[in-house]
Amino acid sequence: MSKKFYLTTPLYYVNGMPHVGHVYTTVIADAIARYKRLCGLKVCALTGTDEHGLKIERAAREQEMSPQELTDKYAGEFKKTWTTLGIEFDEFIRTTEARHSVAVGEIAKRIKESGFIYLGEYSGNYCVSCEAYVPEGEKSCPDCGRATEFMTEESYFFKLSLFQEKLLSFYESNPTFVMPQTRMNEITSFVKGGLRDISISRTSFSWGIPIPDDEKHIYYVWFDALTGYLSGIGFGSDESKFNKAWPADVQLIGKDILRFHAVYWPAFLMAAGLEPPRHILVNGWWTVNGEKMSKSRGNFIGADELAEKLPADYIRYFLLREIPIGGDGDFSYEAFVKRVNSDLANDIGNLASRTLKMIQNYFDGEIPEPGASEGGDGELISFSKETVELYRKNFDNYEISKGLENVWELISATNRYLVANEPWKLARDQGKKERLATVLYNAAETIRILAAMLSPIIPDGAVSILRQLGVKTDLESIGLSSLLWGSLKVGSKIGEVEPVYPRLDLGDFGMESPAKAEAKVERKPASIKESPLISIEDFAKVEMRVGKIVKAEKVPKSSKLLRLIVDLGDEKRQVVAGIGEAYEPKTLKGRLVAVVTNLKPAKLMGVESNGMVVAASDEGNPVLVTFNEDVTLGARLR
Ligand code: MSP
Repeated sequence: MSKKFYLTTPLYYVNGMPHVGHVYTTVIADAIARYKRLCGLKVCALTGTDEHGLKIERAAREQEMSPQELTDKYAGEFKKTWTTLGIEFDEFIRTTEARHSVAVGEIAKRIKESGFIYLGEYSGNYCVSCEAYVPEGEKSCPDCGRATEFMTEESYFFKLSLFQEKLLSFYESNPTFVMPQTRMNEITSFVKGGLRDISISRTSFSWGIPIPDDEKHIYYVWFDALTGYLSGIGFGSDESKFNKAWPADVQLIGKDILRFHAVYWPAFLMAAGLEPPRHILVNGWWTVNGEKMSKSRGNFIGADELAEKLPADYIRYFLLREIPIGGDGDFSYEAFVKRVNSDLANDIGNLASRTLKMIQNYFDGEIPEPGASEGGDGELISFSKETVELYRKNFDNYEISKGLENVWELISATNRYLVANEPWKLARDQGKKERLATVLYNAAETIRILAAMLSPIIPDGAVSILRQLGVKTDLESIGLSSLLWGSLKVGSKIGEVEPVYPRLDLGDFGMESPAKAEAKVERKPASIKESPLISIEDFAKVEMRVGKIVKAEKVPKSSKLLRLIVDLGDEKRQVVAGIGEAYEPKTLKGRLVAVVTNLKPAKLMGVESNGMVVAASDEGNPVLVTFNEDVTLGARLR
């Protein structure tokens, strides 16, 4: 039976919409889960929502809803976001679920029975308006600025002070418990500084799980929420399921919640007689345009905004490639567009398309049989094997961005291999057919391995490339064995070749890219009244006819231009049209268009154009003129 792998994201607060920071931790988790599945492990990935506490109670009041209505609304938004981003979890836990209260009761009971919970008094400066204690040493409330009152209330405490030695020796025997290392050091020195007992109940508000037998108390929201990692896999309700999954293999968190996860959490677990998790993986924070993200600064990037504008692969790739896990990063659409255009559209996208197109054109879409190896072949093959090893080592250590660097080195090497071997020249010489077959086989096989390695990160594009190569894309087929050289079947048919990663333009994000701004000025329609008048003879000089597009494809290296073959009744013509950003080539086949047929021929990006398809220019975006009734091809427009 395959080994289990249990991983978790934090349980997100549901007082507002998910944003890019939440997306980040979740995307890391999904990438790790997919990688571990590729490695053949039986993965359980858990996420969920943290729905109790004063923060939620207050947000509900502000939004004039009951706390339950508020949490239902935003828990739904989180779920929706993960689905849109292609993120699938095995378990989703909401802390307002009944199975969760049962688990909280159970862990509290175990800790109490072991003698680590006592009733005491909690004192501190309290903000009546905010109904919260302010941090020690503060005289006024950091939230609202009002003066505070010194207050004392009854509270249940957890004897954290007894766990200093236990925790330190646990850290010593598990030096990678917290990753990266700097965070482990930070926690070790914090614990060495001494630990005080912590309050685990509240009486000043009521949105929480009541403590049985003393119902004026509710559990402190962190004690409640951390237990979600257990309740979501059956603790207190399905022990056999729980025992199969626990302890967690890796728990992902942001740097702001490290102390709760690396100190309190293992102590709670030890006190309850449960094993601590194996690793806590700590990620850094994203700023947006150089500043902390906030609604008031106007730089809040909601997950819904991202998901609406961008394919999931682009978001996943940017977040995972741009910074190493642990580091902080800055999000801007400028950096985003630059990164994905260069790495996804230019590098992997183009490499796959040009190789596949050559197989299509020179070998009728069949994977060619390689002949004898020559100079560069062996190097490419061994570099591909080395890359797989480095990729695995880095992914096993959760160094995803480094692993991606390895993958991109192999992409560059494959591109260099094609440039050095010039298959497009080999194709012109019948005597070099075998060499051409070898070069294209090697390139295609490397691309297959690249796509398999990338499948945990950019699953949609990876699957599309694999499908185009004609190989299986189900989970079983993309396993560790798919990373081995040589499994691409000679003679197998490739699928339909289509672009994987279209380029992005800053204009897509409501920002003016220099090119689009110019285009708009140029194409702004003159007011009808200002147009100079012409005679009917002038108009008659322009010959326009009805045509049918019988073939459409992108002009290589251009995002705008499409090469069209148009049937005009008694002849077929090649026309180049600047409609590539508005129309997918495959949607154009069979479409009736108006064609200017007496234009002087012109060359666009090296491709001859014998005419022009007529389109309206709608703020610079072309909209094709078409015919809805039956009409004879070649009929003249007058
Ligand atoms: N509810 C607690 C977690 C309880 S876990 C038992 C919580 N929720 S949160 O919604 O505020 O934050 C969840 C995660 O999002 C944290 O890991 C936090 O670090 C992360 N991020 C929030 N803003 C972020 C950025 N701007 N950048 C990166 N991650 C960020 O804390």
